[in-house]
Amino acid sequence: MADIIKLDGTRPLDFDRDTVEQAYDRWAPVYDLVFGGVFSKGRKAAIAATNKIGGRVLEVGVGTGISLPLYSPHLRIFGTDISELMLEKAKKRVDGFKLKNVEGLAVMDAENLEFPDNSFDVVMAQYVVTAVPNPEKALDEFARVLRPGGELIILTRVSADAGMRRFIEQRLQPVVRPLGFRTAEFAWSRYAQWLAGADGMELAERRLVPPLGHFSLVRFRKMDVAAAA
Ligand SMILES: C[S@@+](CC[C@H](N)C(=O)[O-])C[C@H]1O[C@@H](n2cnc3c(N)ncnc32)[C@H](O)[C@@H]1O
Repeated sequence: MADIIKLDGTRPLDFDRDTVEQAYDRWAPVYDLVFGGVFSKGRKAAIAATNKIGGRVLEVGVGTGISLPLYSPHLRIFGTDISELMLEKAKKRVDGFKLKNVEGLAVMDAENLEFPDNSFDVVMAQYVVTAVPNPEKALDEFARVLRPGGELIILTRVSADAGMRRFIEQRLQPVVRPLGFRTAEFAWSRYAQWLAGADGMELAERRLVPPLGHFSLVRFRKMDVAAAA
C-alpha cells in the first residue's frame, strides 16, 4: 500500500494527541524496563553529539528522563513531554540523581512549543518524531526555537522504501498505533521533503544506530546567515 498524501500535500491524521498521551501514560510505569536497554546505544550517541555543542538544550519528548543523567553538567536542559505520568518519572529521576543542569520540565505539545524563536543551542528529540500526530509541524517548531548555528538532533525511525521490511512495517502499523508507535510512513524521503521546505535548515549528519538498522541519528543544522556574511 502506498503512503497516502492528500491533494494539499498533507497526510491524513492517523494519530491524535489524546491517543498518544494516554498511550504514554500507560507506558510510564514500565517504560524504562522495556525501552531502557534497547535504545541505549542510540541515546548515548545523540547525547555525545549534544555535549560537544553545549549551551542550552531542549529535549522534546523527554519521557521518563532516561537520558538526563547522560548530559554534561555544564549544559542547561529543559525537558518537555505530552504525558504527565512520563514527566513525573523524569522529575523523580532529576531529584534522585540531584541533576543541577536540568533547568525545567513541563508538559508541552511538541507541535506548539511555548518558547520564543532562537531559544536553544540544541533541540533534541529521541524516538519522538514518529510518535507525534503531525511530525512536520513538530519539526518546524524544533527549527523555530533553535538558534542560528544550533543543531536539531533526532533519533528516529527511518522506514523502508520498499521490499519485505516495508511490507512488514505496513502490516504492523495498525497493531502498534494504539501503543503510541508508528512503524511505517517514515521513509527517508519524508524527512528530506520536510528539509527541502524548511527555511535555513541543512543536513549535518545521518547515520544508522542500533537496534537492527531501523533507527537513525540525524543532525540538522540551522544555518547562521549573519555569521556567514
Ligand atoms: C518512544 S517515547 C521516547 C521517550 C524518550 N525520549 C526516550 O528516549 O526513551 C516518545 C515520547 O514522546 C512523547 N510524545 C509523544 N507525542 C508528543 C507530543 N506531541 N509532544 C510532546 N511529547 C510527545 C511521549 O509521551 C513519550 O514520552
